[in-house]
Amino acid sequence: MLRLPYTRYEKLYVYHLDATELPPLKDPDLIGNWVEDGNPILFFHRPKEKLIEELCRRHGCRLIYQADLDYTDWEAGQRIEPFTINGITVAPCWDKQGAEIVLDPSVIFGSGFHPSTRLCMETLIDYCRKEKSGLDSMLDLGAGTGLLSVTGAHLGFDRITAIDNNPLACEVAAKNVALNGYEKRIEVRCSDLRAEPPATEVDLVVANLYPALLAGIFEHHSFWQAKLYMFAGFIPSMEEELLAALPDRIRMIERKRSERWCLWVLQPISEMPDQQKGATPNGSPL
Ligand SMILES: C[S@@+](CC[C@H](N)C(=O)[O-])C[C@H]1O[C@@H](n2cnc3c(N)ncnc32)[C@H](O)[C@@H]1O
Repeated sequence: MLRLPYTRYEKLYVYHLDATELPPLKDPDLIGNWVEDGNPILFFHRPKEKLIEELCRRHGCRLIYQADLDYTDWEAGQRIEPFTINGITVAPCWDKQGAEIVLDPSVIFGSGFHPSTRLCMETLIDYCRKEKSGLDSMLDLGAGTGLLSVTGAHLGFDRITAIDNNPLACEVAAKNVALNGYEKRIEVRCSDLRAEPPATEVDLVVANLYPALLAGIFEHHSFWQAKLYMFAGFIPSMEEELLAALPDRIRMIERKRSERWCLWVLQPISEMPDQQKGATPNGSPL
C-alpha cells in the first residue's frame, strides 16, 4: 500500500519467490507482500534486483517469476479514478476531494471497477435504503480492499467483520478502514474461509468469492443464520451448480447481472414475509 513519499501508483515491480516464509521487509519502496499458496509475491514501486538476490541468498529461495508493469495494466487497463454508485462517491486517496469514501486500492481486488464489486456495492446501498432499520451488523467475506465493509459503515452498519486470507488484503483493508475513520465499527480479520467457516450471527452477509469457495461454505449448516445474504463472483454458466449447493430452506429473492457477472440476494424462509414463503424452490429465475 502507499507509504510516503509515494502518493500514487505508477509502475509495479513484482517478484514471486518460492520461499515459505520471509521476515517483514522494511524497504521504503515496498508496496506489499502478497502471499499466494504460502509463497511471497513482493510488489515494489522501483526495480529491486539486488534486494531480491540478497533475499534469495539469505533464505535459500529462488525467483519463480518477475514482472514490471504499469499500474493501469495491473488494474486490467482501467485508470483508477473517482466514481459514483447510487449517490456515493468513492475516490482513490490521491484524488479524494469531495468523496464520501476514500480508498487506497493498492494491488488488491476491490478498487471498485470490477462489475462484481459494483453489483455488491449497488445492491448493498439499495437494501440498506429499503430496509433502513433492520440491518445493523454485517460480515464481508473475501473483503479485498475493504470497500464493501467501508460502504456498509458509511450506510450505518454498526458492527462489521471483514475477512480475507491474504495478509496484504487485510493490511490494505485495515488502512482503508482507518482512512475513513471506521476503526470502531469494522474489524478486519485475516482468516482462511476454507479452514474456518464464519459465524453468521449477523443481519447481512456479503460475499464476492469464487464459486468453489462459495459452494464449500454453503455446505455448513451453521452458515445460514443471517437475515440476508448477497453473493457474487460467478458467471451464468456456474449458477446451476451453485444453486444445487443451496439448502432447501433458502430462497432467492433477487438476481442481478452486470456484463457476465451475477449477484444473488438470498434469504432464509423463516426471515421472509408470509406471502413470499411459497415461492419456487430457491426462487430460481434461471
Ligand atoms: C473477488 S475478491 C472480492 C474483493 C471485494 N470484496 C470486492 O467485492 O471487490 C475475493 C477476495 O477473497 C479473498 N479470498 C480468496 N480465497 C479466500 C479464502 N479461502 N478465505 C478468505 N478470503 C479469501 C481474496 O484474497 C480476495 O481478496
